[in-house]
Amino acid sequence: MASKKRAKPGKRPTTSRRYPNPTIELLCERASVRDFKAKKIPARVLGHILEAGIHSATGGNLQPYSIVKVESPATKAKLAEMCTQAFIGRAPVDLLFCIDWRRNERWARLDAAPFTATQSFRHFWISMQDAVICAQSIETAAASFGIGSCYVGTVLDLVPKVRRLLRLPRGVFPVVLLCLGYPKTRPEPRAKLGSGTVVHDERYRDLPGAELRRAFDAKYAAFKLEPTPLFLERLERVCRNVGGAPLARKALARVKRTGRIAPAQHRFGLHYVADGMPLGNERFLELMEQAGFGWFRKYKAK
Ligand SMILES: Cc1cc2nc3c(=O)[nH]c(=O)nc-3n(C[C@H](O)[C@H](O)[C@H](O)COP(=O)(O)O)c2cc1C
Repeated sequence: MASKKRAKPGKRPTTSRRYPNPTIELLCERASVRDFKAKKIPARVLGHILEAGIHSATGGNLQPYSIVKVESPATKAKLAEMCTQAFIGRAPVDLLFCIDWRRNERWARLDAAPFTATQSFRHFWISMQDAVICAQSIETAAASFGIGSCYVGTVLDLVPKVRRLLRLPRGVFPVVLLCLGYPKTRPEPRAKLGSGTVVHDERYRDLPGAELRRAFDAKYAAFKLEPTPLFLERLERVCRNVGGAPLARKALARVKRTGRIAPAQHRFGLHYVADGMPLGNERFLELMEQAGFGWFRKYKAK
């Protein structure tokens, strides 16, 4: 089935789109959904979605992840409150994807096999990939039933609370939440950098500056943020903390010249604040160790 779509201004370029098959259409038309109908997802449908996701590729076919399926209104409300994102509570199903080496460790014990996966960065890295690959298959499988979804990464800022709420034992570490539900309204797909920017032929190549600028300008064509005194003061402070007075001066001069805060200034200066993000590093390692993951410590064989 090929179809033609017209994207609305501010979301994606208004070129008409033709798709060679329904899967490509599903993938290219997807958008995060945060506005859900009260309608439940039938157990049979959810079962198909979960089975399809679990069939994803996984390093060594080890499946070192678990999914905590949350449908209880009380638990969803707690998650929503903790993450300060109300749509989590309104989604009929919330899925928490976790790295899970506990199950494999127990299996290893049953078979009298040696086990060090929680002490290995390599294993950690692959298991994170496995969890996310499964989550994304579930997103797509859900979309094939007309079910919308939205990831929530905020769980990473709430590891102890999430572990307590959902009783995650040692060896299990939360990665991301995926909220599922039938969309009340269907959002327009968001503009993305295209394959001309993201895909490199045969070897990595930096785009020339002007091309890079065009690509980001096209992606953020609809972005507008008034330079209020509060925003400017915050931007100035973050720039100063990261790049000293020269960066702060340059950032404010740019705002003055263009009359607006640039999208990258917003992303890294006001939203994912560049001076704050790395400060969480040590805390994350602490939380990881509490959950039984000590891969960043020097390994000592017994
Ligand atoms: C790892 C990850 C974490 C995310 N966390 C949140 C979140 O906490 N809250 C939210 O509303 N959206 C969250 N999102 C959704 C993104 O905001 C969304 O994917 C992005 O803006 C692009 O929009 P699109 O999904 O409609 O293409 C997250 C997405 C990913 C992949």
